[in-house]
Amino acid sequence: MSSVLPYKEQSSGKKEQVADMFNNISKKYDFLNHFLSLGIDILWRKKAIKMLKPYQPKVILDIATGTADFAIESLKLNPDQVIGVDISEGMLDVGRKKLKERKLDHKIELRLGDSEKLLFDDNKFDAVIVSFGVRNFENLERGLSDMYRVLKPGGRVVILEFSRPSKFPFRNIYNFYFKAILPRIGRMVSKDGSAYTYLPESVQAFPDGDNFLKIFNKVGFKNTKCKPLTLGVSSIYIGEK
Ligand SMILES: C[S@@+](CC[C@H](N)C(=O)[O-])C[C@H]1O[C@@H](n2cnc3c(N)ncnc32)[C@H](O)[C@@H]1O
Repeated sequence: MSSVLPYKEQSSGKKEQVADMFNNISKKYDFLNHFLSLGIDILWRKKAIKMLKPYQPKVILDIATGTADFAIESLKLNPDQVIGVDISEGMLDVGRKKLKERKLDHKIELRLGDSEKLLFDDNKFDAVIVSFGVRNFENLERGLSDMYRVLKPGGRVVILEFSRPSKFPFRNIYNFYFKAILPRIGRMVSKDGSAYTYLPESVQAFPDGDNFLKIFNKVGFKNTKCKPLTLGVSSIYIGEK
């Protein structure tokens, strides 16, 4: 898999660059997310969390939690404990403020942490969830393996990630928006010249659909499935340990 970097002129690795990028855009991240997706990202998170309803997970880990939107949505499952981890302190700061304002800070704990070196015991969580995070991992297989390790046997992983629509003519309209319009708006609002160019580039380089399922299965998950959303703009992947 080719590794797409946010700041190509820098020599630092992907993880450091991704953390820097999200620190840079953290204050505008929520606004741009909802604006650029016309609010559809909110519906996608709801759909992904609903897929866990039959399993009633009590202890949930939200990896790449960012500003905690997916962790907040997971409260609909009525868990006892939700922990969110992220490598960007800036994103976590925005998330912590949001939790405080909504009086949810006693329900969700946010911690600085790397998906590839999770500081949790084996077999701890009933569910592990990730939205729009795995595409940014430096080493996807290592991140998925560590999710597998911390999940209880019988536990579920739900991953929400951008994918590439394949149907003509929607694919062409989408590509025009995603590659020509979105980076301009993103650059103007976030003032980061690279973050919203990195977004379409990283989606392009990401192994989506069946290619993702191959890696998902390889690290040990079973009963894996992919559910495309909105003509394939995003996909939900679910798997069991
Ligand atoms: C696009 S945001 C998604 C945030 C949130 N889950 C959402 O749905 O809005 C991606 C997040 O992944 C985090 N991230 C990237 N690589 C990571 C890693 N190796 N470990 C933990 N978090 C990571 C970034 O810092 C960023 O906050």
